[in-house]
Amino acid sequence: MTKSGEIILIVSAVCLFSLFGVIQAEAEAPTQTQTQFHVEGKVYCDFCRALFENRLSKPMPDAKVRLQCRNQTDDTVTLTVEGQTDERGVYSLLVERDHEDEICEMILMKSSMDDCTEIPNEGHAKESARITITNNNGMSETTRHANPLFFLKKEASPECDEVFKELELLPEEINKS
Ligand SMILES: *[C@@H]1O[C@H](CO)[C@@H](O)[C@H](O)[C@H]1NC(C)=O
Repeated sequence: MTKSGEIILIVSAVCLFSLFGVIQAEAEAPTQTQTQFHVEGKVYCDFCRALFENRLSKPMPDAKVRLQCRNQTDDTVTLTVEGQTDERGVYSLLVERDHEDEICEMILMKSSMDDCTEIPNEGHAKESARITITNNNGMSETTRHANPLFFLKKEASPECDEVFKELELLPEEINKS
């Protein structure tokens, strides 16, 4: 193959990757020279405003999420990948190369449910959105599982009292922590 032919092939491959962003096919083999990662996770509507998964948490299809990495030293954005959840509320994002020295986190962008749009801004929620994207820590697996992300429902459903009771927690205690 000619040099320009190769370049066209490479350019087409890159375009395909960005086009398919979310709908990643398994068929794409990682190249030898550069590690690729898949970051997978779930998005829920938190019917109980509990900030943890429970039986009333509802998987949210068509939610928009963004993975963002920043340089630890000067805080500049080094990577942005956007995607959308499928019908099971699951997203999968393709990430090129290792991001060892960067701070990477999942960010909720847009809810698909009218009454479930609030993004929790507690420190706890922010912490749990962090994700490590490197192989230089002994993990050879290239799929990374992010912690679940939650949009909060405007008002907790009445059934939530039952859920909290089952978990032997009172809503007051949760709101305090
Ligand atoms: C982060 O920024 C610093 C200072 O601008 C630079 O020296 C370093 O190479 C950057 N690191 C990464 C991983 O981009």
